Amino acid sequence: MTAQALDGLLLLKNDIFLRALRREPTEYTPVWLMRQAGRYLPEYCATRKRAGSFLGLAKNPAFATEVSLQPLARYELDAAILFSDILTVPDAMGLGLDFVEGEGPRFERPLRNEGDILALREPDLADLGYVFDAVGEIRRALDGRVPLIGFSGSPWTLACYMVEGGGSSDFRTVKTMLYERPDLIHRVLSVNARAVSTYLNAQIEAGAQAVMVFDTWGGALADGAFQEFSLRYIREVFAHLKTEHAGEEIPSIVFTKGGGQWMEQLADSGASGVGLDWTVNLGAARRRIGAQCALQGNLDPVILFANEAAISKAAREVIDSYSDGRHGRQAIAGHVFNLGHGISQFTPPDAVKILVDTVHAYSADLAKS
Ligand code: CP3
Repeated sequence: MTAQALDGLLLLKNDIFLRALRREPTEYTPVWLMRQAGRYLPEYCATRKRAGSFLGLAKNPAFATEVSLQPLARYELDAAILFSDILTVPDAMGLGLDFVEGEGPRFERPLRNEGDILALREPDLADLGYVFDAVGEIRRALDGRVPLIGFSGSPWTLACYMVEGGGSSDFRTVKTMLYERPDLIHRVLSVNARAVSTYLNAQIEAGAQAVMVFDTWGGALADGAFQEFSLRYIREVFAHLKTEHAGEEIPSIVFTKGGGQWMEQLADSGASGVGLDWTVNLGAARRRIGAQCALQGNLDPVILFANEAAISKAAREVIDSYSDGRHGRQAIAGHVFNLGHGISQFTPPDAVKILVDTVHAYSADLAKS
């Protein structure tokens, strides 16, 4: 082991999340939550107000560091995630990102015709410097408490926003283009795949200790189209990703919302872990792909609106489903507890404490017995 690697290990006080992704036996199940830094926390809303806007917050490394650490001050989470957004990449490609209050993201210059698409280029990494600065600053602020996760949108999910110009309920514009002019969509996806792998590698070099690819809209595709337009480019991203930095292994996670039926193919995409939404039976998923990949998930985020008894019962059921009647450290090995999608902005903060504490206590008991 190099001196640098030894340094990294000594600095990390809690590496249980990284060990779970390597499918090593752990003393309890690590937990973090998608969108753990966000509007359900009053302190997040206060910082956002000071920053003036969501983009003012995300583009300022000092503010981004502050909000990344906020959930860790409240809960015993086992990982931190970079505070940023998947849409910073198309913004840096010149599409002009704006967040309209109460409406979500909007691009001023979406990709609407062949000319727009032929002119599309990978971003200049210098325009994303604020992201890498935030990664470095969050690592320093964490001081080895837990690992830091970097992330990006998948090439397909980014393309959805780039062509639609914002969110959509049916992705009519991008899917119509996909059916009529697949050549144009493939061009966007190739540029995105190169941009995403370069972007994630730069996050890794800046200090991200694991990376996650959010394929939020992969599940909007028909079987067949998913493989051709989403999975193929996710594979390309992983093929170009650094798997080691400063002597340490960098694990990766892929999450296709609504992608349960394709879990074997996602497990074979090059990721170390597969994120699953709440529609999937976790025990069955472990039997199908657990020998190949770690699994992340998969509690229904809406459970956090229910009472304490219901939250802790549902959390125990996820752990029971994964461990399938077994006991000991092997029973929980390879599981990273998470929600099946991002936490809702209306979630009561106290519910998150109940969840995190239940996951730790219940899985530790199971691992011991
Ligand atoms: O997980 C974290 O805590 C890290 C930060 C993070 C954000 N967005 C912050 C954010 C991450 C990982 C994302 C990813 C992201 N962004 C995804 C993929 C994950 C998913 O949820 O499926 C997507 C699809 C986006 C695009 C995006 N960003 C949308 C659709 C919106 C609007 C959502 C809404 O409810 O208004 C955003 C804005 C956004 N990104 C917020 C946060 C905390 C809320 C903005 C605010 O403070 O007003």
